[in-house]
Amino acid sequence: LEALNITILQDTSLPDAQKCKILKSYDAVDQRVKVSGWIHRLRSSKNHVFIVLRDGTGFLQAVLTGDLALAHQTSTLTLESTVALYGKVCKLPDGKTAPGGVELLVDYYEIVSLAPSGEEAFTNKIAEGADPSLLLDQRHLALRGETLSAVMKVRATLLRYIRRFYDEEGITEVTPPCMVQTQVEGGSTLFKLGYYGEEAYLTQSSQLYLETCLASLGDVYSIQESFRAEKSHTRRHLSEYTHIEAELCFLDFEEMLDHIEKLITKTVKRVLEDPVSGPLIKQLNPGFTAPEMPFMRLDYKDAITWLVEHDIKNEEGEDFKFGDDIAEAAERKMTDTIGVPIFLTRFPAEIKSFYMKRCPEAPNVTESVDVLMPNVGEITGGSMRIETTEELMAGFAREGIDPEPYYWFIDQRKYGSCPHGGYGIGTERILAWLCDRFTVRDCSLYPRFTGRCKP
Ligand code: 4AD
Repeated sequence: LEALNITILQDTSLPDAQKCKILKSYDAVDQRVKVSGWIHRLRSSKNHVFIVLRDGTGFLQAVLTGDLALAHQTSTLTLESTVALYGKVCKLPDGKTAPGGVELLVDYYEIVSLAPSGEEAFTNKIAEGADPSLLLDQRHLALRGETLSAVMKVRATLLRYIRRFYDEEGITEVTPPCMVQTQVEGGSTLFKLGYYGEEAYLTQSSQLYLETCLASLGDVYSIQESFRAEKSHTRRHLSEYTHIEAELCFLDFEEMLDHIEKLITKTVKRVLEDPVSGPLIKQLNPGFTAPEMPFMRLDYKDAITWLVEHDIKNEEGEDFKFGDDIAEAAERKMTDTIGVPIFLTRFPAEIKSFYMKRCPEAPNVTESVDVLMPNVGEITGGSMRIETTEELMAGFAREGIDPEPYYWFIDQRKYGSCPHGGYGIGTERILAWLCDRFTVRDCSLYPRFTGRCKP
């Protein structure tokens, strides 16, 4: 368009514009509104300028016509500039599509802040198809994109429904510390830090602290960051992740499995039915079907047989044998082949953590579970916990852990022990499954992994 020297003025004879967010504007058909946001898309043709405005609640198609389209001011607009648009919300005619089924006929607008053009233009910063590490350097800008912001919205909704489920089940939220002096999941992935002259770690899991809350608060949960100094660069490992953990008392292993199944199916159903996250998942993962209860139960020993029968090899390239760790590649092949959610249960004590309770009927294996989902593999790990001090001491000894710093954890067994168990869900893993993302990195706001701690 040829820019003309026209001053943009508001017609004072028009009705007052109702200030609203984009999501609300969809319901304001035939009303005059004021909507503020970022210019997500910008295009001009003949006598029109088309803007897709974004404000985090949604996208709004807007059209500028006449003097508004021709004014010099309009020719200075760039992608990611912020503007306040005034105009009437119109229902789109049948056959045309736009977010919310509406279009804003702009009668006046104000520039809030102009984003750069040329060299510094937004599109040069996060060019499509750019190297992933360059995109990660520009994560603060990449988050404005449709896909990442959709995943972050699903994430928020997921956490909301997880909390709702716990609330309905009468499970109390607690906030354990992240700076600790004990390990939970093995010394090799501990992040050490200097703590006023003492050694401390970033927590690997809030489990031990949750266990201490049972006697005061009953069943508890936390949604807290966990930290793992993972040496391996895999698509499902982060150095910092959001850990959903719960600890439940006076229940047995089967009851815990039922609880996990109910949590996952109920929450996923709600996320799919939610008016915001439902359509986003459809868009990100069109083939997704909600898991149904009951989940398939597969004992570790039977999984070993299955792997041998299907000629899937262990890390050494040999046939799997009882006692082998089922590492990521094999686990994924098995899960993808079976194609449904699996409770993989009863792992050998030797390949699991010090705190896991042994099965009364087969003491070489533990009352433990990994929840495996097609395309991602493990999203949840849990177990029943050792109930006696004696057995716990044996667990420490087996893992070569000095029990001294765990005196408070041991006391749980001393002052009124009880049958209890719990689990941890990796928020980014469950999201990768729901939103069909190749890596958990796409499900974290600012992912942390080997070599990446910015922005
Ligand atoms: O299986 P994990 O290591 O179990 C625990 O930490 C238990 N203490 C939890 C408990 O019983 N309260 O971790 C639990 C889950 C895994 O299934 C996975 O989803 C996620 O946490 N997870 C990770 N997610 C991203 N990056 C990593 N490095 C992860 N390590 C574990």
